[in-house]
Amino acid sequence: MRWLVTGGAGFIGSHFVRTALTEEWTDEVVVLDLLTYAGNLENLRPVERHAGFSFVRGDICDPDVVAKSLVDVDAVFHFAAESHVDRSIESAASFVRTNVVGTQIMLDAARTAKVKRFIHVSTDEVYGSLALDAAERFVETRPVQPTSPYAASKTASDHMVLAAERTHGLDAVVTRCSNNYGPYQFPEKFIPLFVSNAMEGKPLPLYGDGRHVRDWIHVDDHIRGLRLAWERGGSGEVYNLGGECERHNRDIALAIVRAVGADESLIQPVTDRLAHDRRYAIDPQKARAELGFEPGPPIEERMAEIVDWYRENRMWWQRIKAGEYRGYYERMYSGR
Ligand SMILES: NC(=O)c1ccc[n+]([C@@H]2O[C@H](COP(=O)([O-])OP(=O)(O)OC[C@H]3O[C@@H](n4cnc5c(N)ncnc54)[C@H](O)[C@@H]3O)[C@@H](O)[C@H]2O)c1
Repeated sequence: MRWLVTGGAGFIGSHFVRTALTEEWTDEVVVLDLLTYAGNLENLRPVERHAGFSFVRGDICDPDVVAKSLVDVDAVFHFAAESHVDRSIESAASFVRTNVVGTQIMLDAARTAKVKRFIHVSTDEVYGSLALDAAERFVETRPVQPTSPYAASKTASDHMVLAAERTHGLDAVVTRCSNNYGPYQFPEKFIPLFVSNAMEGKPLPLYGDGRHVRDWIHVDDHIRGLRLAWERGGSGEVYNLGGECERHNRDIALAIVRAVGADESLIQPVTDRLAHDRRYAIDPQKARAELGFEPGPPIEERMAEIVDWYRENRMWWQRIKAGEYRGYYERMYSGR
């Protein structure tokens, strides 16, 4: 079987590719990735010599590159996206281009290439925000209500996937996952930013009152859920994948400083993100019942392992932080 993985040089996509090849989920993986600021070939180094691995540097918005990458492909796992909420607040254009237009180009090409299944990797952010004290959690039938430009662009892409399934009969499954953590996560995202800053003795910029709630899932649990969605999911279905692990941001920050052995005073409040969603809460019951999905242990049990990875791979994140990311960081957090 040959799989096409878009965005396979990013955080979650590369974890999927490394695991799919080393655990023999498939014989062949073609990665299509533009290598934007978030894409990093070092993430694929463990499998770069694997006989079944090939890499195409290209844009999902380029129909010719996409068509060539899809030759003899059985399944598409579509990860490629602009993925950072804060960047979407700074400028939304690239989010609409990649997440909406790029997904539509992928869908058209997958149909032409007669791909057997299209797995669209989406997010719980499409559901919008819950009150801290709300009894409900996100279920797949809940109307979508995205607030950030990132979430709005992912919502639009979900609709395009479901429309292609209904209108053209493309076999497609949408998964909506909560906040991922794990190795190789780009160090401008919450957990790797805080872990790496704590290791460097730098401030940990915590948005607002720190009481925002996110559901945390290890990237390894997420990609196993994606495999199950490919294997057992119904075409045209949406599956929520979550970690059953809702935590306040401040509690995650505290767990990080403890695991790193840093001082709590490094945690410093900064002006809240615009329209910052208060709470995300995934109900993964449908995935559990229909796919056999089970999230692993809670984040506290994995924090030491995560911190160890970032400690042992200092060069990986230091190189990134020294590069393009520095200008972005200055714009976001300087003077606060
Ligand atoms: N990180 C999370 O917590 C999370 C949670 C739920 C869903 N998701 C979704 O999972 C997917 C992957 O997220 P991630 O955190 O690994 O993202 P990431 O930003 O680490 O990686 C995105 C990858 O896509 C590539 N890319 C971007 N634009 C492209 C284009 N036009 N053509 C080809 N490649 C392009 C980048 O180079 C990068 O390798 C995204 O679709 C995201 O919406 C992420």
